[in-house]
Amino acid sequence: MSGLKIAVIGGGSSYTPELIDGIIKRSSELPVESIWLVDIQAGKEKLDIIGDLTKRMIKRAKLDIKVYTTLNRREAIKYADFVITQFRVGGLKARSLDEKLPLKYDVIGQETTGPGGFAKALRTIPVILDICNDIEELASNAWLINFTNPAGIITEAVLKHTNVKTIGLCNVPITMKNNISKILDANSNNIKIDFLGLNHMVYGNKVYLKGRDVTNKVLDIISEGESFTMRNIPDLKWDSKLIKSLEMIPCPYHKYYYMTDEILKEEKENSDTIGTRAKQVMDIEKKLFERYKESNLDTKPKELEKRGGSYYSDAAISLISAIYNDKDEIHTVNVKNEGAISNLSEDIVVEINCLINKSGAKPISVGRMSNRIKGLVEVVKSYELLTVESAVFGDYNKGVLGLSTNPLVPSFTVAKKIFDDIILANKYYLPQFK
Ligand code: G6P
Repeated sequence: MSGLKIAVIGGGSSYTPELIDGIIKRSSELPVESIWLVDIQAGKEKLDIIGDLTKRMIKRAKLDIKVYTTLNRREAIKYADFVITQFRVGGLKARSLDEKLPLKYDVIGQETTGPGGFAKALRTIPVILDICNDIEELASNAWLINFTNPAGIITEAVLKHTNVKTIGLCNVPITMKNNISKILDANSNNIKIDFLGLNHMVYGNKVYLKGRDVTNKVLDIISEGESFTMRNIPDLKWDSKLIKSLEMIPCPYHKYYYMTDEILKEEKENSDTIGTRAKQVMDIEKKLFERYKESNLDTKPKELEKRGGSYYSDAAISLISAIYNDKDEIHTVNVKNEGAISNLSEDIVVEINCLINKSGAKPISVGRMSNRIKGLVEVVKSYELLTVESAVFGDYNKGVLGLSTNPLVPSFTVAKKIFDDIILANKYYLPQFK
């Protein structure tokens, strides 16, 4: 590989400047020749704004990278070395429905978790499989780096139903690492965390500072009430007894499972006052795009940090560089388990530390998953597997069964009602259930 072609599907996303910033920062080790930002007609205005900002950022960095914006996905994918997917089928409007609709049944409404994530997966899986068809045909050697949420389920679908070389990525592990570095007042380069679990259900099993096991210290600090969250998740304090009994560090998304009542209460209050997270993000985005339009802006603006996805460029571009440069570095990504967690199925997608080099991501063996977390992880994985099958084959029954298996949904009866509402509200995006 030399002179890399990178295609970004969902290039008009407000997060793209993050990605460009990552490419610029690593330009000495990653010879990018062209960046292709792809979007659909409905996203054209945003795509043009992002394209212009990208060109200004590249110019300021004095780099010789060509930037293309296009609505022609196939042209962008053709001969690409890396395809990055970060699109949102139905946009923030669909997300807003995902977050609101379950509240009617006293069930959490969240972008990626519970019924909200289920609806998003159903909308997204047919589209990502279509994109993968294009990759198989036009760029069969390309790596697909998928951020599109729910990233774990989407990666599961791609690895089960296509031959595309795929790695699923999320900013939760890197954010946890940065948060832990802060609370330990340490440089994050000196911190190593053994992660294992699923996407948005990942646990930090052990934390090492310069090779010394500091897990108990971190657990103590978090159980004393230290803030440990992400922009998009309510900053509720962890119950110290939970942290002590887990003996591992949960990720911020675990609050939806372990503190369901408190979060539901907060979501319902917010929905009547400041609005769902999607509504808040719409407001942030409006301001962000006004800012992006400013012709003298040529760097990633500070305001982008208000979004939950900060640090994701670090995660993405350092991963791409580790593959390209055959670095043998450790990154936490979503891949097939392949026995790394010995008491989980081999062919399910897990989020785990992997050795990254030009062959891709090889999960690092961690032995058995503790019974303290295994039950919850397996139940959520069953929900994910049923969701994939439902989305791919338009199988309604598997969908209801999957949703009723999700720990956030109280019964099959409620699952059925929510699923029917989802189908009705997403008619246009769920042709597989016609
Ligand atoms: C976190 C998650 C991402 C998610 C984002 C939402 O970073 O890891 O998967 O997309 O939050 O943030 P937002 O600002 O859109 O609510």
